[in-house]
Amino acid sequence: MTESVCGSRNHSSHLRRKYTLLSFFCVLGLSALCTWTISHRLQRPAVSRLLLHNEEVLSKCRALDLKPGPPNNFHSRTESDRYDPRHTTTTLIRNGTIWTGGQNGSEVIHGDILLDKGIIIAVGKVEPGLLQIYQDVVTVDAHGGWVSPGVVDLHSHIGVGPSPALSGASDGNSIKGPVLAWLRSIDGLNTRDESYRLAVAGGVTTSLILPGSANAIGGQAFVIKLRPSSDRSPSGLLLEPPYGLNGSEVDLNLPPRWRHMKHACGENPSRTYSATRMDTMWAFRQAYQHAHDIKKSQDEYCRKAFSGELLDLETFPEDLQWEALVDVLRGRVKVQTHCYEAVDIDAFVRVANEFEFPIAAFHHAHEAYLVPDVLKKAQGDPPAIAMFASFSIYKREAYRHSEFAPRVLAENGIKVVMKSDHPAIHSRYLLHEAQQAHFYGLPDNVALSSVITTPAEVLGLGHRIGYLATGFDADLVIWDRHPLALGATPRQVFIDGIPQLDSSIAPHHVTNLGPPSTPNFDREAADAVAYDGLPPLHPRNPRKDLVVFVNVTDAWTRDFNGTRNLMDGQTEPGVVAAERGRIICAGSAMSCAPQLARPDAVVVDLEGGSLSPALVSFGSQLGMQEIAMEASTTDGSAIDAMTEIVPPLLAGNEVVKAIDGIAFDSRDALLAYRAGVTRAIVAPAANGFIQGLSAGFSLGSRNKLGRGAVIQEIAALHVSLGHGRAFPSVSTQVAALRRLLLGGDRSGDTASWFRKAATGAIPLVVEVHDADIIATLLLLKKEVEGVTNATIRMSLLGATEAHILAKEISSANVGVLLTPPRSHPYTWERRRIHAGPPLTHDSLISYLFANNVTIGIGPQGVEGSSALSGWAVRNLRFDAAWALEDSAGKITKECVLAMATSNVERLFGLTGDPGEADIIATRGGELLSLEGKVVAVLSPSREIVDVL
Ligand SMILES: *[C@@H]1O[C@H](CO)[C@@H](O)[C@H](O)[C@H]1NC(C)=O
Ligand SMILES: *[C@@H]1O[C@H](CO)[C@@H](O)[C@H](O)[C@H]1NC(C)=O
Ligand SMILES: *[C@@H]1O[C@H](CO)[C@@H](O)[C@H](O)[C@H]1NC(C)=O
Ligand SMILES: *[C@@H]1O[C@H](CO)[C@@H](O)[C@H](O)[C@H]1NC(C)=O
Ligand SMILES: *[C@@H]1O[C@H](CO)[C@@H](O)[C@H](O)[C@H]1NC(C)=O
Repeated sequence: MTESVCGSRNHSSHLRRKYTLLSFFCVLGLSALCTWTISHRLQRPAVSRLLLHNEEVLSKCRALDLKPGPPNNFHSRTESDRYDPRHTTTTLIRNGTIWTGGQNGSEVIHGDILLDKGIIIAVGKVEPGLLQIYQDVVTVDAHGGWVSPGVVDLHSHIGVGPSPALSGASDGNSIKGPVLAWLRSIDGLNTRDESYRLAVAGGVTTSLILPGSANAIGGQAFVIKLRPSSDRSPSGLLLEPPYGLNGSEVDLNLPPRWRHMKHACGENPSRTYSATRMDTMWAFRQAYQHAHDIKKSQDEYCRKAFSGELLDLETFPEDLQWEALVDVLRGRVKVQTHCYEAVDIDAFVRVANEFEFPIAAFHHAHEAYLVPDVLKKAQGDPPAIAMFASFSIYKREAYRHSEFAPRVLAENGIKVVMKSDHPAIHSRYLLHEAQQAHFYGLPDNVALSSVITTPAEVLGLGHRIGYLATGFDADLVIWDRHPLALGATPRQVFIDGIPQLDSSIAPHHVTNLGPPSTPNFDREAADAVAYDGLPPLHPRNPRKDLVVFVNVTDAWTRDFNGTRNLMDGQTEPGVVAAERGRIICAGSAMSCAPQLARPDAVVVDLEGGSLSPALVSFGSQLGMQEIAMEASTTDGSAIDAMTEIVPPLLAGNEVVKAIDGIAFDSRDALLAYRAGVTRAIVAPAANGFIQGLSAGFSLGSRNKLGRGAVIQEIAALHVSLGHGRAFPSVSTQVAALRRLLLGGDRSGDTASWFRKAATGAIPLVVEVHDADIIATLLLLKKEVEGVTNATIRMSLLGATEAHILAKEISSANVGVLLTPPRSHPYTWERRRIHAGPPLTHDSLISYLFANNVTIGIGPQGVEGSSALSGWAVRNLRFDAAWALEDSAGKITKECVLAMATSNVERLFGLTGDPGEADIIATRGGELLSLEGKVVAVLSPSREIVDVL
């Protein structure tokens, strides 16, 4: 296996990206000034001025005490209220390994499921007698594979936070005041967003659509199902909307339905209103005091009504603007609160207890695991915690995040929900959040429940979704493998009994293996709590002496010829010995007998684990920032010679070097290092056209002067081309690039760097997503090469639409540096995604690979903004493993390893000896999996083995 098989030919490059102007509801919130007044007048809408007949008054008053929930006869229903006769057939799903959601997520039944009229008729054994009742039954064979209820996303902005982002279509946040309890997400819900079908392709069937977090109270949230409604309306998506929506009659004899209200504390509302935490808490208290006054007069009115004291002309006191908050005080609204830190969680619990309402869930809540006792102080059941698995550190509020938070919370008896905050994490990949939580110690039954059953219960919809049981909604997913296994992909998704996927495209291979057996992180989880969220991350034990790894399954190493397994030909787990970070012996116990016998040897049992090349990251700002949203913790942004006035001191020298700005030793860097990514290539932080020169550095080094800290001072020259930026038109950008590359005799540092790129002396990395711009670049390359008679070593960074020109890119000898590796149509210039399974046969990666494109893969990140994705680097091992799984055997493990190591180095022009690159030792499984735990880093260049 040689490196050249894993892509084609030679070229190079590097990365960097900019802030895309996408609204980022819960994470970033909005910035704006707004004035705010709360009217203390009690308005009396006209409708209430009508004299109510006595009996009506009394039933209205009686209804105030009704608690939300399904009517008593709900479970005897024979068809769903969402049943669509035109699209629903009776369906028998045969031979499933059925995870029902029952018994706390532990119940698994082998058998069949019968669906009719949008509900589940039977689960397990479907009696032939029962089947005979139905005509035209469609049978779907699950081939013994896993079947689960549909995934439920408790925190999504699908339809209000648009994909692709268009400036006129951002409907997630109003900034008209800190308290906007009367706003409703349903009023801004666009049913044509690309994200619906993409989320369904990830098995998501139901979502809570929340307003953003720009306000203390941002408005009412609504639960929707993600299948297209037959009337094409937003209303048609709603699941059990509260009675009375849009003025429809309320049946006062039925229990009301649950409502949801978005609240937010902390930085986001503060930023919106140039306010402080104190202001936000006062906004809550003032609003709830007002609602409390209304409630009190209602109760007083009803007291009089029941005792016959009511005067004929008195009207029921109510106010359309405040009725939803009055309902919160009546315990009829699920309070969904965005709150990160202990200070916020404590303050909000105080407010909720002061006004005596329960909190359904804290969302984000990165510090909740540090304050379980505060959660237990809340009235009623402790709030559930809805969180991200690893997306963190982007602001102070997320700085003390722990990947062990889900398990710590579960151990404290708190309900755990994993959520997407779509489009922050794509709802399509919500299941991966649960997979990660499981990897870091959340038990499999709880982890799977955290995206299915638990959110269904938190929504107050546990009577109809979140379980596979008779009488429940026919929302389910037939998987190709256990849903907690990496790469799990739906083969079919049913919503209300209607299939959503083209099953001829979906994966065909099926396994019914159980969940992955994940590592033991007991020590790390205890440390996270003991150190108040900031456990030490530096390797504890750098060793220059002999380290012997025993019980090694594979030992992948690199040399100039590619990736090689030192255990090839071994039938049993073997031994690898390393001294001063360098492998000195590998093979059977016999072949390393002298090393094993040495008394100074440190023996590490890998328990069947492996050695593999350390991964190389690019495409994030790791090294240029610690806390993305805090300017004082970042390098700042390079001056853009295209749009900014260059200070005379710099004129002609606008091409800056990342190496001059790199900050080592950030928490993201150390977390990545501990997850098997030991090198990063970073471009200068820049938002303009010329980005500067990237550098390669070691994530295990404390500063630039350490041995082996700088891997290569100058990697590639970076430019960025695209639409909708602060800088001029695409044709202007292309004109500038042409002039710079053909600059000929111009003098100065900038001209000289572009001359080097034009003659192939250094790689040219172009950040670009749009296929039309890519085509222009391919032509420009040819044009310049025709003049210079040299070859430009060009790579495309980002490259979402590269599949459209795969053959042309390959034959132009241009590399592709995919960030993110799994595309989402964030913006117009990325809208033509190659969606990957189950929507296309090939993944984007396997498609480009089949076309002989040299591919490097970066971390997934969020929002297409590398500025925020330093945290994501640690997940590169999962992203690479996912690429392998998604390729359905069309890409070998060696080639996937190359995409995250040697291809990247080649495209960025890193010239070092691959034999000097770090090697990772994992215990209990391999690096590209959810089973192996990184326990050591072998570093020949730093002459150590870091035992973690
Ligand atoms: C279910 O599918 C598995 C795998 O294809 C097969 O081995 C098994 O016999 C099937 N069971 C039934 C009851 O059809
Ligand atoms: C690489 O392969 C060539 C040809 O097969 C061989 O001669 C050379 O020794 C190999 N180099 C290394 C470092 O294994
Ligand atoms: C190798 O590891 C496996 C898994 O932990 C264990 O069952 C086995 O006993 C180990 N073998 C040796 C020789 O240590
Ligand atoms: C271009 O380079 C080739 C190969 O080095 C050489 O044969 C040819 O004469 C050059 N042409 C020009 C126009 O310089
Ligand atoms: C890719 O390269 C291989 C080997 O060189 C070749 O057989 C194949 O036809 C190429 N595929 C494409 C799509 O160019």
